[in-house]
Amino acid sequence: MSTTSTTEPTAGAPALDRRPPALELDKLTCRFGELTAVGNVSLTVPEGSRFGIIGPNGAGKTTLFNLLSGELRPTSGTVALFGKDVSKLSPPQRVQLGLGRTFQVVRVFNMLTVRENLTLALSGLSRSKLQLFRPWRTYRAQQARAEELAASFGLGDRLELIAGELSHGELRELEVMLALATEPKVLLLDEPAAGLSPAERVDILALLSRLSKELTVVMIEHDMQVLRSAVDWVAVLDHGELVTQGPTLEVQRHPAVRELYLGSAAHQGGEHDGASA
Ligand SMILES: Nc1ncnc2c1ncn2[C@@H]1O[C@H](COP(=O)(O)OP(=O)(O)O)[C@@H](O)[C@H]1O
Ligand SMILES: [Mg+2]
Repeated sequence: MSTTSTTEPTAGAPALDRRPPALELDKLTCRFGELTAVGNVSLTVPEGSRFGIIGPNGAGKTTLFNLLSGELRPTSGTVALFGKDVSKLSPPQRVQLGLGRTFQVVRVFNMLTVRENLTLALSGLSRSKLQLFRPWRTYRAQQARAEELAASFGLGDRLELIAGELSHGELRELEVMLALATEPKVLLLDEPAAGLSPAERVDILALLSRLSKELTVVMIEHDMQVLRSAVDWVAVLDHGELVTQGPTLEVQRHPAVRELYLGSAAHQGGEHDGASA
């Protein structure tokens, strides 16, 4: 596969270019022993953009997210959030600065209800430490906000359901809501549509389209249809390296991308020029 470095941004970039960066990755590198999971990746994510990250399994996408959210520290290179170097900050410190994320594998409390999951995430925001045996009804402000959040995402009638009984699609939606509870300015979504049925995909896309335009969204996603409707800029990783980046439709047509995704959904609708990003 082509690992030739064609990392120059494609011409015709939208006005996003002129927005200040929400995230700046500078020569970001993460090694696990001999393996370079992320190698020398430099990227700028403008405020308010919808930014996609694609690449084959093992390309380093999740590792990159872990470097952004602080679960991992870089071997070298830096991450800046709104101009501040956060490379050495812990995940909670980065949350305080406006970073929110979801995980490739859904992380909710399966034994708790949707309401309780949301209430917990919201209590994290107000920083009143969760007391394990504090009665739920005393979390009044959070309860109200939980109801508001669930209603705004069409899960209002699901509040009393045990999370473990939700469909996979509803779980993904709940996860996005949990990430939104901390009121992030930058939201990282790791494969939000993975494993979803076509109908569930439509639901999660609808949810994503309702997110505030001010919110910067970075999304790892394999599904080209999801990417086309959810992001306007795509960066391609392979073997930890940035292969190319550019407007979604242009990147889809990039020879290296077609090669990486040959046989997958990538080339379906490649001629779909009408769709605007
Ligand atoms: N904690 C870790 N320790 C060692 N190797 C890891 C670790 N996390 C990821 N890797 C390796 O780094 C590479 C990139 O993994 P990952 O970032 O999960 O890829 P992707 O999300 O693109 O599928 C893979 O080869 C994976 O096995
Ligand atoms: Mg991954």
